[in-house]
Amino acid sequence: MNKMRSLCLILFFFTVGLAKYPEDEKSVRWLMNRWQQEYNVVYKSATQNIEKFKTFRENVKYINWLNKAHNGQTEFELNKFADLSPDEFKSKILMPKRQPPTFESSRYIRGSGLHERDLPESFDWSTQGRVTPVKDQGDVGTCWAFSTVENIEGQWIQLGQPMTNLSVEQVVECDGVADIPHNNTHADCGIFGGWPYLAYQYVMKAGGLQTWEDYWYCCGLGGKPGTCDICPAAGYNWTRCGPPVPYCNMTQSCAVKINPKKFVPGLKVVDWKAVDPNETAIAEQLMNIGPLSVALDATLLQFYHKGVFDPIFCSKSNLDHAVLVVGFGKEKDLFSTKPFWKVKNSWGETWGENGYFRILRGSGTCGINTQVTTAVLQKP
Ligand SMILES: *[C@@H]1O[C@H](CO)[C@@H](O)[C@H](O)[C@H]1NC(C)=O
Ligand SMILES: *[C@@H]1O[C@H](CO)[C@@H](O)[C@H](O)[C@H]1NC(C)=O
Ligand SMILES: *[C@@H]1O[C@H](CO)[C@@H](O)[C@H](O)[C@H]1NC(C)=O
Ligand SMILES: *[C@@H]1O[C@H](CO)[C@@H](O)[C@H](O)[C@H]1NC(C)=O
Ligand SMILES: *[C@@H]1O[C@H](CO)[C@@H](O)[C@H](O)[C@H]1NC(C)=O
Repeated sequence: MNKMRSLCLILFFFTVGLAKYPEDEKSVRWLMNRWQQEYNVVYKSATQNIEKFKTFRENVKYINWLNKAHNGQTEFELNKFADLSPDEFKSKILMPKRQPPTFESSRYIRGSGLHERDLPESFDWSTQGRVTPVKDQGDVGTCWAFSTVENIEGQWIQLGQPMTNLSVEQVVECDGVADIPHNNTHADCGIFGGWPYLAYQYVMKAGGLQTWEDYWYCCGLGGKPGTCDICPAAGYNWTRCGPPVPYCNMTQSCAVKINPKKFVPGLKVVDWKAVDPNETAIAEQLMNIGPLSVALDATLLQFYHKGVFDPIFCSKSNLDHAVLVVGFGKEKDLFSTKPFWKVKNSWGETWGENGYFRILRGSGTCGINTQVTTAVLQKP
């Protein structure tokens, strides 16, 4: 009986303090008003207002449910995606789910056989001035280009070069590489998704990258000033990517905008590598190499707020989001120690933990260990 009581007490302590939003109509209207002000969101019509309110209210209930189901271990909130239904989020922001490819054995960098207990307690490139500020991909599926370009930014810094924001837009507009050698469905599809391992091959072929400031990001601005109607890249494959955007402005095409004379001098991608899926090996190589491109099933990441992401469901083999792992560590509380990866996302600085999230390390959570890649840059 006493045992039962203390168990109840413990459960009680876990349950109070969890974010829980009121679900009645009046409160949700108030929450939504406040949210619209915070995120500067205005809808076009009364009909849209009604639609969005419905979605917002569903999301309030869903987030309450998520918080309860995760028992405070991962926290979820009404964030910038609060007016997108999980289905809209999937189709707009995430990429179509795909199996990660495996590569020929010579592609892989292995660990040295280091044991997990020999790793430092924590490690973080982002606190060492080796990671550029968090960006925002906006309302399109360009995460793969951010992940690729941010890995290259890290490799550039590792060569002793100054921190430089490199052009994601160039990769989105110009890269139409398809994976012919593997004869599968993978291809780079602009705003409809792509793969870092293919994008390195684009940058190799193109001969370099312009800077972000020079070839700035405009495809995900969702109609805000400066939005561009980009054209499909040369090589865009309908069968693999689906139909391209119905309208594009030719003055916004790669062919018109790209300027190889403005490529960052000396920056050349000469090869790319994958890292062994063993998470001890990944940690070791993260320290050796720099921030690494990774991919995962990000279905439940939409409303992530903070904590170590350890979702009650996600796939280890169907990936839909690419990001950048920059560090690792351990979160300790009275009851447990949770090893995690620290990951830079491309959903703006207001999302998650200042634009980053942490995800459980060591058990292949959401496939985070299955598509770890890096560019290899020419040494000066
Ligand atoms: C990862 O590699 C280390 C070192 O070789 C080994 O001890 C460990 O068992 C491996 N982990 C898994 C999950 O295979
Ligand atoms: C990179 O871009 C960010 C804005 O996204 C800016 O604040 C920062 O100063 C830029 N860094 C460099 C080195 O140009
Ligand atoms: C892929 O296709 C090429 C040319 O069509 C062929 O030569 C090659 O053997 C195929 N590879 C695999 C793994 O099926
Ligand atoms: C596009 O992809 C399909 C399916 O993988 C392939 O059969 C076709 O050859 C590709 N087209 C081009 C132009 O590469
Ligand atoms: C095409 O893009 C250019 C450059 O941004 C812009 O000046 C022009 O108005 C656009 N044309 C149309 C029809 O949208």
